[in-house]
Amino acid sequence: MPETHVQAPAWSGPDLTARYHATRALSEALCVPLSEADATIQSMEDASPAKWHLAHTTWFFETFLLRDHLPGYRLFDAHWPLLFNSYYEAEGERIPRARRGMLSRPGVAEICHWRAHVDEAMGSLLGNPAVAGLIELGIAHEQQHQELLLTDIKHALFQNPLGPAMWEGEAPKAPASAADLEWYRHPGGIALIGHDGDGFAFDNEGPSHRVLLEPFALAGRLVTNGEWEQFLSDGGYSTPSLWLSDGWAWVQREGIAAPLYWREDRHFTHLGWRPRDPKAPVTHVSYYEADAFASWAGGRLPTELEWETIAQAHDPKGGNQLDGSGPPLPRGGTDLFGDGWQWTRSAYLPYPRFAPATGAVGEYNGKFMSGQFVLRGASCATVRGHSRASYRNFFYPHQRWQFTGVRLAKDL
Ligand SMILES: [Fe+2]
Repeated sequence: MPETHVQAPAWSGPDLTARYHATRALSEALCVPLSEADATIQSMEDASPAKWHLAHTTWFFETFLLRDHLPGYRLFDAHWPLLFNSYYEAEGERIPRARRGMLSRPGVAEICHWRAHVDEAMGSLLGNPAVAGLIELGIAHEQQHQELLLTDIKHALFQNPLGPAMWEGEAPKAPASAADLEWYRHPGGIALIGHDGDGFAFDNEGPSHRVLLEPFALAGRLVTNGEWEQFLSDGGYSTPSLWLSDGWAWVQREGIAAPLYWREDRHFTHLGWRPRDPKAPVTHVSYYEADAFASWAGGRLPTELEWETIAQAHDPKGGNQLDGSGPPLPRGGTDLFGDGWQWTRSAYLPYPRFAPATGAVGEYNGKFMSGQFVLRGASCATVRGHSRASYRNFFYPHQRWQFTGVRLAKDL
């Protein structure tokens, strides 16, 4: 049995039990609008079925908490780790990622029984300070999967030519001032970056360390749909000089001519096909597109260090983030957090003196530090309270099914 690493109990707040139950309840609430078939299909290898997210997050608690720390606990079904382990080599065999949509069984109801069984058993561990850090990790992990569940089901519903809506309702309008652009100016100098160990953070956010910044400015808002339309009508997608070589090859190979989910003046949302608000932030763009847009606009993407230095003075719970089981829809505003994750030009690499956690949970972040770029902030599908100034999201440069947007930067 692998040994899992228990972090300092200082992570745990007095409301750990309440946050555990609220997190578990939200995952199920997000699936209420879905049929059994909706929850079972998989639209591409990057995306997972909604049902699989419900099960995998439960596997995480059952494996790393109940199996490893609750004496006498017996697995709900000893065969299910084969289905619901994601990428933990230390946890043995698992089905290929691209085959998750082939799991017609167990059904949603059976998975929810498992969830209830695990939640009941977790009652014995929720007050135990020795595993509080691991429970915090499990909560943060499930919150990450809530965002993936929302973006994955959006991609799945998009495959249907009829464009079915997951929710009914009206999209919020961007605030009237949304198009104004101001800049945060920074004189440069030595800055302190990374998580200082006070409260929960993923291992990839630390250690805290000093960096040297040149003078720069960071845009006060995200790039809007209206600005992206200008880029598009100015031939942005057919001008190779704007693109990185890999990006241009991607545009040519995949026939890319607009952000994912765009069709003429509409875009696909969790409310189905809707008109685009020109003042709302553009989302669902790849790193390649973000970089090409920045070149066209005469700016550049920020480094993650620049972004964090500005964000340290901002409320990570601010902006348009997920507050309940309603649809995530970009709206626009001046917050550093919310609406869309922001591509940075920083490669996803370990910070100086980084060491992954020991045990199986050490596979959580460190082993993905190759070929990806860091995104900062939070999106409209991120549970409010999940992100922080030091939070490092990461994706491959061609990926764009997350709510990924652009905040420009420039040298001063
Ligand atoms: Fe996971």
